[in-house]
Amino acid sequence: VYEGKCPFGGDTIGGAFTSKPTLQDWYPGRLRVEQLHVNGAAADPLADFDYSAAFEAIDLDELKSDIKTFLTTSVSWWPSDYGNYAPQMIRMAWHAAGTYRIADGRGGAGQAMQRFAPISSWADNGNTDKSRRLLWPIKKKYGNALSWADLMILTGNCALEIMGFPTTGFGGGRRDAWEADDATYWGPEWIDNTNPAAVDDMVMRDGRWTGEPGDADYELQQPLGASHQALIYVNPEGPNENGNPADSAIDIRITFARMGMNDEETVALIAGGHAFGKSHGKVAGDKIGPPPEVAPMEDMGLGWHNPEGPGFAEYTMTNGIEGAWTPNPTVWDNDYLTNLFAYEWEKIENPITGATQWKPTDPDAPKTPEAHIPGEYQELMMMTSDIALKVDPVYREICLRFRDDFDGFTTAFSEAWYKLTHRDMGPKSRYLGPEVAAKDFPWQDPLPAAQGPAIGASEVAELKQAVLATGVSVSDLAFTAFSSAATFRDTDKRGGANGARLALAPQKDWKVNVRTGDVLDRLREVQQASSANVSLADLIVLGGCVAVEQAAAAAGVTVEVPFTPGRVDTTDELTDAGQMEWMAPVVDGFRNYVLPEFSSVSKVAPEEMFLDRAALMGLTAPEWVALTGGMRVLGCNHDGSDNGVFTDRVGTLSTDFFDVLTSMDYEWSTEDEGATFTLDDRETGETRFHATRNDLVFGSNAQLRAVAEVYAGSDGQERFVRDFVAVWDKVMMLDRYDVKAG
Ligand code: HEM
Repeated sequence: VYEGKCPFGGDTIGGAFTSKPTLQDWYPGRLRVEQLHVNGAAADPLADFDYSAAFEAIDLDELKSDIKTFLTTSVSWWPSDYGNYAPQMIRMAWHAAGTYRIADGRGGAGQAMQRFAPISSWADNGNTDKSRRLLWPIKKKYGNALSWADLMILTGNCALEIMGFPTTGFGGGRRDAWEADDATYWGPEWIDNTNPAAVDDMVMRDGRWTGEPGDADYELQQPLGASHQALIYVNPEGPNENGNPADSAIDIRITFARMGMNDEETVALIAGGHAFGKSHGKVAGDKIGPPPEVAPMEDMGLGWHNPEGPGFAEYTMTNGIEGAWTPNPTVWDNDYLTNLFAYEWEKIENPITGATQWKPTDPDAPKTPEAHIPGEYQELMMMTSDIALKVDPVYREICLRFRDDFDGFTTAFSEAWYKLTHRDMGPKSRYLGPEVAAKDFPWQDPLPAAQGPAIGASEVAELKQAVLATGVSVSDLAFTAFSSAATFRDTDKRGGANGARLALAPQKDWKVNVRTGDVLDRLREVQQASSANVSLADLIVLGGCVAVEQAAAAAGVTVEVPFTPGRVDTTDELTDAGQMEWMAPVVDGFRNYVLPEFSSVSKVAPEEMFLDRAALMGLTAPEWVALTGGMRVLGCNHDGSDNGVFTDRVGTLSTDFFDVLTSMDYEWSTEDEGATFTLDDRETGETRFHATRNDLVFGSNAQLRAVAEVYAGSDGQERFVRDFVAVWDKVMMLDRYDVKAG
């Protein structure tokens, strides 16, 4: 019957690979539990590859020399400005690292996410596709031993070095991601990618701010780091392109603080970065083609096709602002700051692109060479965001200090660059290669060296007995161990139990940790009474092992919870309280904690933030379910409340939480519009249990319920204990880069 007809006659695909609607279209408010499994092993062609060993085997001198040769060897399909690719490579590296945001540790250079949408196609990343493609021969030569993520940052360093700038160091060890990240919230969005000019600024910018620059309540939505969708930080032309440097300074301060940078680091980075290179604005934006993710196939992954002339060199169009900041854009010097203050600057409109930019009022101000036409010169240029540094009183004072102390400025920029490009790598023990800076920086959350060898098996056994003898409850021991480990974030590898930061400010004062104070005192007594050289950090974790073993035994299952000693205790001096405060949880459903102010400031439901916490800890959906079910029957609510404690035998590692969650013997109701719930016995009407959203989500959400049923089944008990112990150990070991790979 179908002979001669195409077997596929429709306009959508059965597998729904590119077809709408998707689940997300049908149910936009659904909890996206599958986010826990993005960037999974199945997408990784190198899952069996030992990157650390391969990278360490590279001759870094040879690699750097290859990169430096490449930087000054121009190719015809994208000729370098001034015969030097260094400035454009610095911008690529800065944009790779600059997506980092301290609120949740997401973004950053660590996985080379600039290769994938949406970041690859953000307007602000215009022509960084060319920078990465130019680097391909180097990547090809070193193959899998050199990740894109490491190559991009190392190239940034080499670029700085060939222009006379002393870098502070380089640590390798970044492992590339293999798929786009669909699990990071980059802010409200409305963009028609086939028509880049049709960006709705009301959504792209104003959708993420409250108030106007200068208002007391002016604030950027958490956890965002950029002032505008598809930008790395701020609009160079000022908020809403208003050309107002004072307003721009306000945005710069807020957004750079979201990156974990203070005023001095912010000035050092902007003034340092703009000592190099130029901005490109030679063609009207509406002539430029679509970004890489949606460009035509024959463009082979490159975007922003420029139809004017050859589409590059003196016709380059990236941002729309045209010109260089200094007379020598490929030399590290202090001309940026000198000229910023030596001249008055007037606002002008770029005649081709309409962009707002600034030029010196003095016609005798120095000029800068045209990047491609020998003998031609241009006027110096500043952006509104550069003038901001002169206008804001605090930035101004720092600029003047740097202008008059070039060496101090150089050191400040060098260390800020090291921080910018390494701060999402976690502890220094993850850095590879011979150029890791010897100095420890507070943003690395440094740990002191271990005093002597870690405790051995007999000491572990003895300490376990001593912990038991304190009489501290299973609930309190488990709660404390969990609290010390649960700060960990896989995104920037910060936090975790090592260091015993739970015992130091600011963590010891967080409301969510109040229960731990007395327990820590008792553990310190054990530590002092013991002849073993045990750290408090190890003892806290060991206390958790004791608790879980007791609770499992009470449920009739004998287990030994793995314990890997070797943690050390850090100090107040080594703790940057300001940077640590960002680690305070907003929602930690494991401990049934929701920041009291949360509901009034957020449109997000607590369970979505709980999902986020599970994601930050790198948990899978089954791990999330098992861990929460265990925490509830162990009695680990932060305030000791009975919410979600669906058991009459607290401290027993039973499956009671799942039994109640899946049982139709109860009726669930709410009297405060779904904030809290009661579970009433369907027969007697008696209220049996109380719950929060962070409890009932495991029964209401289909994917989580499916896992809960595994444990609630008649054969679930042993599996539950086994899975709980495994995830417990995983959580305790999340930050142990000193003993595990990666
Ligand atoms: C270029 C904006 C901070 C390094 C540019 C361009 C813009 C811009 C619009 C021109 C892009 C083009 O048309 O090719 C900003 C804004 C910043 C900022 C608004 C923050 C307020 C930084 C930082 C660094 C940096 C922190 C590095 C530490 C560079 C370099 C170039 C550049 C090296 C020249 C690229 C080239 O020559 O191709 N910046 N930038 N910028 N930026 Fe920034």
